[in-house]
Amino acid sequence: MDAVKVLVARRAPAAVVEKLSARFDVDYHDGEAPLTADELRARLQGRAGAYITGTERITPALLDACPDLRVVSTMSVGYNHIDVAACTARGVLVTNTPDVLTETTADLGFALLMATARRMSEGERLLREGRWKSWSWNFLAGADVHGSTLGILGMGRIGQALARRGRFGFGMNIAYHNRSRLPADVEAELGARYLGKEALLREADHLVLVLPYSAESHHCIGAAELALMKSTATLVNIARGGIIDEDALAAALRDKRIAAAGLDVFEGEPSINPALLTLPNIVLTPHIGSATMPTRLAMAGLAADNLLAALSGDAVPTPVNPEVLARR
Ligand code: DGY
Repeated sequence: MDAVKVLVARRAPAAVVEKLSARFDVDYHDGEAPLTADELRARLQGRAGAYITGTERITPALLDACPDLRVVSTMSVGYNHIDVAACTARGVLVTNTPDVLTETTADLGFALLMATARRMSEGERLLREGRWKSWSWNFLAGADVHGSTLGILGMGRIGQALARRGRFGFGMNIAYHNRSRLPADVEAELGARYLGKEALLREADHLVLVLPYSAESHHCIGAAELALMKSTATLVNIARGGIIDEDALAAALRDKRIAAAGLDVFEGEPSINPALLTLPNIVLTPHIGSATMPTRLAMAGLAADNLLAALSGDAVPTPVNPEVLARR
């Protein structure tokens, strides 16, 4: 019997490529740059499985052009680059990599919060450029993190991991807003207060965005929302860039309507809105929330296990649209 055909659409750890190659006929795009949409469509012809990352877009048009595709396994927890409804309608299973990156991503979120509140990038730039002349009482004076109010918009796994860091590590008051409220025992354990979105924006000293990106959350932080925040507040985004209206954020930072922002994700990444690049009160990192070697290996391994299980009829570890499996 011919081996099942799959495409590994981006460079992946050697162990993963070996594991997949032992079972499947693998077409491997061993490259740093993503395939273009046309290249992806061409290389998926006749392939039952796609191993992708957060940068390959799976659209209805692509699915229609690749009728043999049965499984899309993404090495990311976010799946806004995949039209899941279109996949489900065509019987294509989608899998992602939750859980294994939760703590690592929360670490980065907290690091960004600290760096932003304490103006660390600004200080390092100034020092490297020889602009550090003397000590003065308000030199690079930022905001306290300990004992302040941490606002979390989107209280899933990563939001809760941030809340634990804030509460138990830094004695912060935790407030959150989410589509659905957490069970009372989880709120009690995290010491988390549920607030409406507007109240959260008004009360947070540090607001971290951890909500999924969708049509509903597109630009859900814009000029009106930023206007509700404290002028001393910091805003951190580790979710998806499109959640923030970046022009509105740049204006708010320029006019000191909020104190500072820390961004790991950008609407047009890897292109960055030029208005963000010249502001001093912003810390920018290149989408590295889950970027530690152990976590990236765990994500790559889970994405491979999902693909192997889905194409072998075994129990799939982390399906996004399990209803497809039920129909098979
Ligand atoms: C994720 O897993 O969704 C990260 O943002 C990497 O894409």
